Amino acid sequence: MAKKQIALRGRTYPTDLNHAGTVFGGWIMGKMDKAASIAVEDIVKSRAVTVSVTNLNFLKPVQNGDIFTIYTEIIKIGNSSIKIHVSVMVRCKESHEEYEVTDAIFTFVTVDQERIPINVRDVIREDISEDIEILLKP
Ligand SMILES: CC(C)(COP(=O)(O)OP(=O)(O)OC[C@H]1O[C@@H](n2cnc3c(N)ncnc32)[C@H](O)[C@@H]1OP(=O)(O)O)[C@@H](O)C(=O)NCCC(=O)NCCS
Repeated sequence: MAKKQIALRGRTYPTDLNHAGTVFGGWIMGKMDKAASIAVEDIVKSRAVTVSVTNLNFLKPVQNGDIFTIYTEIIKIGNSSIKIHVSVMVRCKESHEEYEVTDAIFTFVTVDQERIPINVRDVIREDISEDIEILLKP
């Protein structure tokens, strides 16, 4: 596994809420997908697309005005696929401690201009960290 990185931070607003008054799950998933895409772009030069989302857990509700941080961790690199664990944390207003509200595994596939899968190793950035190099080993 690679190191956990902060990919996105922000605050929730009234337009992000569902009819029950907490943040809409689809809104959170969209943010997670964007965070995962940033984690992927940090390590590859090519385009990459989301092919699957698994193990999605909505653990706790997110409230209006909450400050959230999305952490990403590259957990596996295949031939053309990259798996990322994405975790959404919310900061408690009183204690300032973070607690997890949602997590999931996103899989991205590196593709060429014609959207055909290409090998991650052919498009890997030169400045990747050692933990990513380990994941690239066969
Ligand atoms: C991603 C896409 C290019 C893959 O094409 P494909 O013909 O299925 O490619 P392959 O069968 O060669 O699989 C490519 C890789 O994806 C992985 N993969 C394919 N489907 C998968 C799935 N459902 N879950 C996890 N991994 C998957 C394969 O295991 C393979 O990994 P590897 O190269 O590391 O071994 C194609 O499915 C696609 O264009 N999907 C739409 C993507 C998109 O628009 N995303 C935005 C969604 S809103």
